[in-house]
Amino acid sequence: MNSLAKRLWTLDTSWHYLNHGSFGACPREVLKAQDSCRARMERQAIQFMDEELPGGLRKAADALGKTIGAAGRDLVFVDNATAGANAVLASFPWKRGDRCLLGSHAYPAVRFAAERLAARRGFKVVYARVPSRVRGPRDIVDVYAQALAPRTRLVVTDHIAAPSALVFPVKDIARLAKAAGARVLVDGAHAPGQISLDVAALGVDYYTGNLHKWLFAPKGSAFLWARRAVQDGLVPVITSNNAGQGYLKEFEWTGTKDPSPFLCAPAGLAFHRKLGGRALMERNRALAWAGAVIVAGRTGLAIPAPREMYASLVPLVLPKRLGSGPKAAAKVHKALQARRVEVPVFPIGSELFLRLSAQAYNELADYAALARALKNIL
Ligand SMILES: Cc1ncc(COP(=O)(O)O)c(C=O)c1O
Repeated sequence: MNSLAKRLWTLDTSWHYLNHGSFGACPREVLKAQDSCRARMERQAIQFMDEELPGGLRKAADALGKTIGAAGRDLVFVDNATAGANAVLASFPWKRGDRCLLGSHAYPAVRFAAERLAARRGFKVVYARVPSRVRGPRDIVDVYAQALAPRTRLVVTDHIAAPSALVFPVKDIARLAKAAGARVLVDGAHAPGQISLDVAALGVDYYTGNLHKWLFAPKGSAFLWARRAVQDGLVPVITSNNAGQGYLKEFEWTGTKDPSPFLCAPAGLAFHRKLGGRALMERNRALAWAGAVIVAGRTGLAIPAPREMYASLVPLVLPKRLGSGPKAAAKVHKALQARRVEVPVFPIGSELFLRLSAQAYNELADYAALARALKNIL
């Protein structure tokens, strides 16, 4: 890792850390802002919760809105994308026999939430079978088009899928869904800070995204955006003292907790801007691809889709002889960790994919190290 890793982050620089995707990495200056926020909370908790929190949340939402193309008044904070997706699924006005269409790359938590609710509420979950190898966005749009049916009420799509790292053509999927009379929820867990966002222009109804991954907020910081016409009845999974007070108020309070990750989201956004904002995203995207090309060139592993399909996460397909399934994935992961390389390995179908990432603290040497480690285990 380069010199920023120590200067701006608290990262352990004895590693080649190529997994910004899973949990992000909160920079020193944002952690410092969070410390001071917590200190204010503990100095006078009533003043903090009653006076600072409500206004602070709205200010943070306004700042976030400017970054992601949304009005602050349509944004609420949630702990994570899991909570955002659960809130939408559970609040949705399902009727028996309705269909909820998910992409087959959907994050397990989102899939499980949909399936659990479906069993309770009498709707059906169906999947658009997204391939892991695609030639371009059209391949993804086509599988959604085929899976839409008359009773599809909600289409759930990733913006950047977790294991495959594919950037989904959300606008095109939304156009199709709308034409079929369905609403659209985007799971944008990985998108904010990794790609430019203009949420209100996507033509979707709900969007949830993490701030603690690529926008450098403290962990436990995410947002939910909803089109104004669908905000009525959209409530958090937790029923609190603010029940019945409307969208903004219900999400403002979900019981006592540390709200500093929300209040310090603007510090994360400011840090992202300071490192270049759009230029940082472009630099990371170029580095991730260059890193993947280095690894592919030195190991013979394949990158399963063209460059236009990826942002700052790029997967490589491992050879079949390393096995398949979660156990084989864990074995490869451990073998790479033993060489101080942190990179996630996922089973997808009968194959194993590793997914490298690029962030400001990475440099080409990290990918060369990954290639060396891989050559030892291939
Ligand atoms: C596509 C996707 N959705 C949802 C999540 C869940 O994020 P969180 O754990 O912050 O809720 C992740 C986490 O990596 C993800 O990749």
